Parts: sequence; C-alpha cells; structure tokens
Amino acid sequence: MNIHRAETFFIRVAAATMLAFFAILVYLAVADRFVPPSHQQTIDPATVTSTAPFDHPGLVRTGPNTYDAYYVARVFSWSPQNLTIPLGSTVTFYVTSLDVVHGFTIPDEDVNVEVVPGWVSTVKRTFRKPGKLLLLCNQYCGIDHSAMYASVTVK
Ligand code: CUA
Repeated sequence: MNIHRAETFFIRVAAATMLAFFAILVYLAVADRFVPPSHQQTIDPATVTSTAPFDHPGLVRTGPNTYDAYYVARVFSWSPQNLTIPLGSTVTFYVTSLDVVHGFTIPDEDVNVEVVPGWVSTVKRTFRKPGKLLLLCNQYCGIDHSAMYASVTVK
C-alpha cells in the first residue's frame, strides 16, 4: 500500500491532536479532580419522600463550616424551593429525582449535575459571595420545564 506523503503528514497531525486532547483530559481529571458525578448511591424513586434524609429536604450542618444539602426534584419543582446557605461555607449537595431526568444547576456558582431517578447525584461547592442565586433545571423534563427553578440565598 502506498500512502501519499501529504496524507501521512495529516494522519500524524490528527493523531497528535487526539493524543494532546486526551492528555489534557487526563490532566484535568487528575489535577482538578474533574470527574463525572459518582452515581454510587442508589435510592428507590417510589420511596424517596419517606426515606431519610430526603423526607425532609434542606440543609444539615456537618461541621464548623460544612453542610449537606438534600434536594428532591420532580416535575416541575425543586424541594426545597428556598435554601439559605451561610456565607463562606462548603456545601455538599445530594440530589435525587422522583420521576424523570432533571438537571441541577446553579449557573453563578458553576454547579451543574444531572439528576437521574434511582440515583443520588452529589456535587460540592464553597460559597464565597453573598447574594441570591438562581437554581435551575437544565434538562428538558416536560411542558413546564422552564418553570422549574428555585432560589439559593448566600448570606
Ligand atoms: Cu426539570 Cu427541566
């Protein structure tokens, strides 16, 4: 088989580009701990509302400056609708869905995790700026998807 020199050159460029992108991906995964949500905790969507701690969604203090926040998603609302987070605290969010796939997103804090029924998604963030933040759903989940929002107040 005879491959033209120009073609060989571009095959090498393409291969080098793919290797470079893969190296960046590995670097991000290791250096920034940039990983997909764990999906290691499962829950029966039918019993979420009677299973602690999701039977009382909200903020739970776990240390001097750390909290766990439990959220339940359903068409078309978040529970809790309003959450107040102390300024400077680190919050681990645990989010699950009662029905369909939703997207748990706080755009101003770069929080974004997919919420899949049957699973508990987690994401952790430290809140350093005071203010009222919008919590959105970013997965199209039905006719009132655009009405699925809540607020998070940092103070
Ligand atoms: Cu929930 Cu879109």
